[in-house]
Formats: sequence, structure tokens, C-alpha cells
Amino acid sequence: MNQIIDIGLLGLGTVGSGVVNIINSPKGRHPLVSSINIARIAVKDLNRPRSIKVDSSILTDDPFEIVNDSKIKLIVEAIGGIEPARSLILSAIKSGKSVVTANKAVIARYGKEISDAANAAGVYVLIEAAVGGGIPIIEPLKQSLGGNRINKVTGIINGTTNYILSQMTKEGANYNDVLKEAQSLGYAEANPSADVDGHDAADKIAILSGLAFGGPINRESIPTKGISNLQSIDINYAHQLGYEIKLLAIAQHLYENSTVNESIPLALRVEPTLVPNEHPLSVVNGVNNAILIEGEPIGEVMFYGPGAGAGPTASAVVADILNIAGISLTNETEKSLDPLLSACSWRNCYLANPRDMPQKSYIRLITRDTPGVIGSIGNIFGQSQVSIQSIVQFDLTNSEAEIIVITHKVIKGKISDSLAKIEELKEVIKIAAHFSCL
Ligand code: HSE
Repeated sequence: MNQIIDIGLLGLGTVGSGVVNIINSPKGRHPLVSSINIARIAVKDLNRPRSIKVDSSILTDDPFEIVNDSKIKLIVEAIGGIEPARSLILSAIKSGKSVVTANKAVIARYGKEISDAANAAGVYVLIEAAVGGGIPIIEPLKQSLGGNRINKVTGIINGTTNYILSQMTKEGANYNDVLKEAQSLGYAEANPSADVDGHDAADKIAILSGLAFGGPINRESIPTKGISNLQSIDINYAHQLGYEIKLLAIAQHLYENSTVNESIPLALRVEPTLVPNEHPLSVVNGVNNAILIEGEPIGEVMFYGPGAGAGPTASAVVADILNIAGISLTNETEKSLDPLLSACSWRNCYLANPRDMPQKSYIRLITRDTPGVIGSIGNIFGQSQVSIQSIVQFDLTNSEAEIIVITHKVIKGKISDSLAKIEELKEVIKIAAHFSCL
């Protein structure tokens, strides 16, 4: 294998440096790695000191120079954010280059525009690193599970929030203290909003949903709730009742019998969710990610591993580079795209009304400790056809009580209607928390 493929790397941060480390240490890896030459690298600041050794003559601070360089066959976009990343990806495609990107924000919003452009230009855009860090999940969904009807994708796909929740559970610590600790360890950003408010997980579930169900949905409409208002008391009660609280991202096909030609309604959401102890996602801790796919005929298959970090993310990026390199070395024209590697949408999907989503609920109520309060609450749930799985009272003071209700699975609208009526009861002081349960 002595043909060399020149690639252009945009960005030399955590992911870009990880890619350089792998490509520049080919010994013991697949022989294709030796065919890759990082010919140009775009950086923000040419004078910044770097932890890795790179030849300064290949650096530029103009990424478009690399995208327009005719020697470069493949662009690796590791800049992140929406712009200029989106324009760079589209320009690279326009000039006939395949692209590898870890950019979930761009793919979640502009994935269809980008894959249409790539298919028209006869090039690949591969995104294995965009979801789940080092976990192979994109190509398995596109290829290895291609024969299945996928019914549901459930993921822990944000390492930062999973680390925070794991520490809150293990140490009984509160959210703000654990966030500070996560920031000092470098697990959480100085501005943690993208992670803790659920936006990063929403980008990722939008991408997984598009692949699993065959069509994009409107990213901005995904109901998204983060972990910043989560109280350690709910983690504690959940634990006593046999659950862990995890930030889950879920995409679910609501009517499994639709045909390919129909538009299909999907229920998507990102929210803290009670996961029963016996469920495989309950034991996914720390910065790890896991994605559980339910399909027919495969049943359940779970992908687990490191969801972030330089090495794991670069591992996924390099796998994509090798996929494209392997194809270009065996297929001179690169015009006959491998239909399973190239992305495509094959049906219309839309977001169902959140009220129609079936779910179990955990509800924590603060009430006056008077006779009949549990009966009144039970009556209201009963009138809305919400069946209760368990109801437990914890005494707060002599006059106030905390009541935890876990319901059976029912559409969310019925729960919301019941809670609106329960809130009106004179014995109820407030609805202190409400989470979904698996
Ligand atoms: N910030 C992400 C996480 C990693 O915490 O999982 C990059 O997608």
C-alpha cells in the first residue's frame, strides 16, 4: 500500500490533536493508517504553544485555503460550532472532497442539506464521532442494523451530565458542588449550558433518530430538559424505590405498524429519567455513554463505552478517515458511492404532540399531613385513567408530608391533566418534582 492520501485537518484542539496522534503513530495499527498524510492543518492562532509536535509549515489560520486546495482529497472538520463549520463542510463537498466531522451541532441542524450536497457531488460525509465519542454507533445504525425495523433508541449520550449525576448519587452531594468539581477536573466546560441543559444530548438524539427512522426531524422542537434543577432528594428517593436518575435521550416510533411510504410520528425527548436498577442503562456511570437500540428482529442491542475525550473521539474520526481512504484506494472514480456508507433520508418523520407520548411518571408532592390526602390524589389520577404503581408517604414535619407517586405507563397528556387538578387541591402545597420513568 504505497499510495498516499493527503488530508486537511480543520482545528487542532482536543479532537484534532487526538487525530494527529493516531495518524502519526501508525505502528501496530491497520496498514491503511500509513497511507494517510496530514498535509495541512488550520488553526485559530498560529503562535499558540501546542502540546503535540506538528511541522509549522503545514499550519494556516485560513481554513478555506485548505478546503480549496486541490491536492487535499479529504477534509476533517474538528472546529465545532455552527459557523464557519457548516460553510467549510459545504465548500469542501462542492470542491469534490469527502468530509469527516465530529460536529453534532451542524449535523443535527443541517444534516439533510449536507447529505443531499454530498450525494449530488458523489462524496462521503462521515460522522461517527458526532455521537457517543469512541462508541461505534453511527455506522452500526447505517450498516450492521440495516435490516431491522427500529422501534426505539434510548441513550445516555452526554458524558458530563452522566458524571455529575453519578457523583451526586455516589456522594449524596448537591448539583452545584459536583458541577464545580467536574469543572475543576476538566469534565465540564466553564460555561456548562450545552451539556447540563441537555442541548448536546438533543443534537445527538436528533442525529440518531434520523438514522434509525429514515428521516430528519426539526432539531429545535425536541422537548429538552437538563439536570440543573435536579435535587439530590429526588436522587435519594429514586434510589430507595429501586431507580437511578439518568439524563436520557429517547427517540421512539409511536406507531410501529406504519409503512415506508407514510410520514411517521416520532416521540423524541431529552430529560432526567428514573431508570430501574435492573435496566442495563442504570449501571452506566461516570463519563461513559451507552445507547440501547430496540429493533425487529434483533431485539435489544446496547453499545457502551467512553463518550468523550481526545482518544475515544479521535478513534471514531480515524475510523471514518480509513473507511473513505479504503474506498478511494480501490475505487478511482469515487462516483459509485457505497449506499450504506453514504447517508440518505428515505421517509418523512415528524415530531408527535408531546401529550401523546406514553410514559411512566415519578411525582413528588408536598402536602398537608391531613386524613384523606392520599385518597384525594388517587381519585384524581383515577378519574384521568392514570393507574398508580406505587404511592409512598415520607413525613417532613408534624404538619407537612412528602408523597411520592409512581404511575403506570400512560400518555403524558393524562398525567398533565391530573397534575393540574391535583395542584388545585387545598391539601396540596406544591408539586415539587415530576420525572419520567423507564
Ligand atoms: N460534551 C460532550 C459530553 C462531549 O459531555 O458528552 C462531546 O460530545
